[in-house]
Amino acid sequence: MTKSAKRTVFACTTCGYETLKWLGKCPMCQGWDTFKEMAPASSGHDGREPKRPVILSDEELADEERIATGIEEMDRVLGGGMTIGSAILLGGDPGIGKTTLCFEIASRLTGHGLKALYVSGEESLRQLASRKKRLGLGAGFAFLTTNHLDDVLSAMAAERYGLIILDSVQSIYNPKLPMLPGSMGQVKEVATRLTMEAKAVDTSLIIIGHVTKEGVIAGPRVLEHMVDTVLYFEGDKMLPYRLLRTIKNRYGAVEEVGIFQMSGNGLISVENPSQFFMSQRGDIGEGSSLFPYITGSRPIILEVQAITQKTNFSMPRRLSLGYDVNRLFILISVIEKAIGKPFFDRDIYVNITGGMKVNEPGIDLPVAAAILSSFKETALGRDTAFFGEIGLTGEVRKIVNMDMRTKECQRIGIKRILCPADGTHNAGGIEIVNVRNIRELYKKIGDGR
Ligand code: TYD
Ligand code: MG
Repeated sequence: MTKSAKRTVFACTTCGYETLKWLGKCPMCQGWDTFKEMAPASSGHDGREPKRPVILSDEELADEERIATGIEEMDRVLGGGMTIGSAILLGGDPGIGKTTLCFEIASRLTGHGLKALYVSGEESLRQLASRKKRLGLGAGFAFLTTNHLDDVLSAMAAERYGLIILDSVQSIYNPKLPMLPGSMGQVKEVATRLTMEAKAVDTSLIIIGHVTKEGVIAGPRVLEHMVDTVLYFEGDKMLPYRLLRTIKNRYGAVEEVGIFQMSGNGLISVENPSQFFMSQRGDIGEGSSLFPYITGSRPIILEVQAITQKTNFSMPRRLSLGYDVNRLFILISVIEKAIGKPFFDRDIYVNITGGMKVNEPGIDLPVAAAILSSFKETALGRDTAFFGEIGLTGEVRKIVNMDMRTKECQRIGIKRILCPADGTHNAGGIEIVNVRNIRELYKKIGDGR
């Protein structure tokens, strides 16, 4: 054996950075005294046959096979069901409902004749059993409680599963590596090994990952490129619903959103989100406006609220929940300039109800309407909706999908829409009131619209 082949390497136990010499401080993660000696990873073919390139012909380009989970909102975000052999990363804050959702998926797919394995590194069998009972799920899928990667790989080798759920990637580790469980290096190792194994035998894989404080899955989104689909489960813990968002999907559209309502016995798909978001209140009071928002391929009517009132501070306060606060600053200036009334002595707070966060520029007009409605102390009413982007000179600009928004407004019983002028925009039985700029909006609020 040559001298170099015998050589060991030193790896950082936190981030996995490798060097040939021991170091006191890791140049990658800046950790002190984190290096341990280890055998170098072997390279080459390890005796296996090398893979050869192939030319694909059309006959071989068959469509991916999908199985519908039967959970409507889950199938929606996946683009019509789970693709066989795909790897899905499901991220979310602890306690948001990832385990609950995956129990439901495993149970439904078992019902469709798929063999499922639920690997839990977080809960004991007793806990899992009581959870399963609480959710009222029938018998069916197998459980494996372990923290060792090898146990999962052996289970996969011993039995052919159609679906494996790993709960969570942070709780499973390879003891042969010097890194600590849950560290970036371990998370990478676990995800790489499992996705490779699963792909080889066409097993679908759902990897649950806790989002750390920085809002990323186990460090800088290390797993996103390894999987086919990345879903984030989010929502305010104080609110009774959850959003399942597609961040990446090799088998469908991104920006798709599934909406679930939490209940004592699990998650329920919300099929009519507009009704759901609006039904939280009886009427729309002063300072509230309705906005047909589009998430992915689906419109949802949201309520925007604003308060403007005399400030008690030397500097007026501007706060925004769900709407970009910098945009709010600009919008306030634009409104001040357009209507000639300064807001320097007023606090302005904006909120989108239900904890929704909206980045679309089309929400400018509803936000302006809510602010002006509060300012004029005039309610806009439940039968009026608004959409349109507002430019720096106060002009109201067209936005995308205006027809889809109008249709949703009509479906939900809205009678009137204030929006930018557009020749192609189909009114569909609703009164369309074109607003060209903020000044027109200001005039229309309160004088019979
Ligand atoms: P859990 O699924 O354990 O969250 P995660 O796996 O993301 O950490 O859910 C957290 C808690 O919320 C759990 O105690 C059960 C409860 N819960 C319900 O009661 N109903 C629901 O619909 C959901 C999603 C959760
Ligand atoms: Mg969990």
